[in-house]
Amino acid sequence: MTTGCRSWPRWRHPRERWFRRAARKVRPGRAAIRPRRRWVPGPRRASEVNDDLFIPSLDIRGARLMGYYAAFLDVGGQRCLVVGGGEPALAKARGLLESGARVTIVWDRLIPEFRTLEVALVERRFEEADLEGCVLAIDASGDEATGVRVSQAARERGVLVNVLDRPALCTFIAPALVRRGPLQVAISTSGRSPFLAAHLRRLVERWLGPEWGSMVELTGRLRDRLRQQGVSLSEQTTQYGRALGSPALGLLRAGRVAAAEAAINRSDGHVALIGAGPGDPALLTVRAVGLLSRADLVLYDALVDAAALAWCRPDAELVCVGKRGGRTSAQQGSIEAHMIAAAQTGRFVVRLKGGDPFVFGRGGEEVLALVAAGITIEVVPGVSAATAAPALAGIPLTHRGLAASFAVTTARRADGGVHDFRDLAGADTLVVMMPVQALQQVSAQLIAAGRPPTCPVALVEGASTSRQRVVRGRLDDIGRRVGQRAVEGPALLVVGAVVNALAEVTASDQSMQDGIPRRAHAGGHPQLRVDGAQVRVDGAPADHELGSNLWSGQAARHQDEHLDLSWRQATNRNPS
Ligand SMILES: C[S@@+](CC[C@H](N)C(=O)[O-])C[C@H]1O[C@@H](n2cnc3c(N)ncnc32)[C@H](O)[C@@H]1O
Repeated sequence: MTTGCRSWPRWRHPRERWFRRAARKVRPGRAAIRPRRRWVPGPRRASEVNDDLFIPSLDIRGARLMGYYAAFLDVGGQRCLVVGGGEPALAKARGLLESGARVTIVWDRLIPEFRTLEVALVERRFEEADLEGCVLAIDASGDEATGVRVSQAARERGVLVNVLDRPALCTFIAPALVRRGPLQVAISTSGRSPFLAAHLRRLVERWLGPEWGSMVELTGRLRDRLRQQGVSLSEQTTQYGRALGSPALGLLRAGRVAAAEAAINRSDGHVALIGAGPGDPALLTVRAVGLLSRADLVLYDALVDAAALAWCRPDAELVCVGKRGGRTSAQQGSIEAHMIAAAQTGRFVVRLKGGDPFVFGRGGEEVLALVAAGITIEVVPGVSAATAAPALAGIPLTHRGLAASFAVTTARRADGGVHDFRDLAGADTLVVMMPVQALQQVSAQLIAAGRPPTCPVALVEGASTSRQRVVRGRLDDIGRRVGQRAVEGPALLVVGAVVNALAEVTASDQSMQDGIPRRAHAGGHPQLRVDGAQVRVDGAPADHELGSNLWSGQAARHQDEHLDLSWRQATNRNPS
């Protein structure tokens, strides 16, 4: 036994009794009934938002899926039986040994690797008496008749039993497991799809590096210390949050355990300036997601899609700073002051900005202010709308034979005037950010700067979001085309021959008018509203896996409700 209760007679030990009760209660083939999850409207915490976004309830043809009660068993010092002598039995024996079990292997033909394990080997076929004193049995023999006998005999004795690949003979199933020291993540598909369970395990393994095992160890030590000191629960929670926000994980990844422990026990605040991409949270970088999920305080711009905030810690403070359509310098100053003050009190602050922080994002100013205040800062580049929006609209910024250079600019200068585009005459493709209010002037300036009035242009609005639409035209008529309809989302203008480069492979959907696509995505993306730490979800979960830029001919034929083909507007209808 691994617990200190050695004075218990074995059959009376509470854990022993629990095992036996559990084994009796779970009968083979009986489906546990799991209630369907329902979405309840109203303010919610970020943790609940995550559930709703990523774990929708599922009914397949009305049948309720079988579910299992999940538990981790303490088999330390307990006798466990493995029946079988090949690789599957070896893997099971190793797993049990890692959990501290005393393992007996029974089978008449054993592969040599068993000799290297600290197990009891019984070289014959299974007999019912082998189960005496066992709390758990696994049949990995692959022999059908043996599996039935092991299952029956085990259940008669109240011993938990698993017969590989035969759920009807099992009283428990083993999950796919990711182990990182004391940290264990179990994945189960309730026996429905072991293939998917293995796939998910690989994903979790990639996401959860070995440093997480050490992180659990270090925060465990911190917990012991805080409890010994009688620190209040709320203060403990604050300290764990700080530990998570500290650079400890990065240091552990680099193998610097002592530095990581010091970082956990220090209370230096710092700031990460992160680009959130053009809108779709699936376009956040992996680094952005990692840092966002650890921040104490997140100051985010209005252009940041609220779904990105579902990655935040449930207890993180979320503050929307800035308004759309121009912000005064006083506001910029107060954002910087907010970040500095928070970092100085030891908080880990994420400043989340649309696109890339250094592309018309005032990121440089914020870096200067933070460095001047002595704050440690990390910059995480984001996917800029300058390149993402054209790509999602099916417009390559460079294209052999059409464009070998591109320039990105903004419609208005810092002093409010419209740019003189003659400076950019050399660029084959021009991307103009924030053009909507000055579209007529921008067009006139570009023509004055030498672009032909028939030059193809496209206004891309709300790229990567459910509001994405593209209005195509030419320099001398884009103002009129756009003027006919309200532009609600952020939009940019792409100017140059590349606008029509892929016209031949884009769909010509007659239901579209003037190149404005009808949304094929019936469900829509979820609308999240954020107020402080409260996040509300309105609408169905989005399937970001599908993306919005599907290119295959097959996708073009099947404009079903799941496929967002909104970029496939009629480029071939462009008059130029
Ligand atoms: C203040 S700038 C910030 C740019 C951002 N830092 C970036 O790298 O994308 C805001 C402008 O970016 C463009 N923009 C941002 N998100 C966009 C989107 N999803 N679709 C089209 N344009 C977008 C619009 O021109 C908008 O007015």
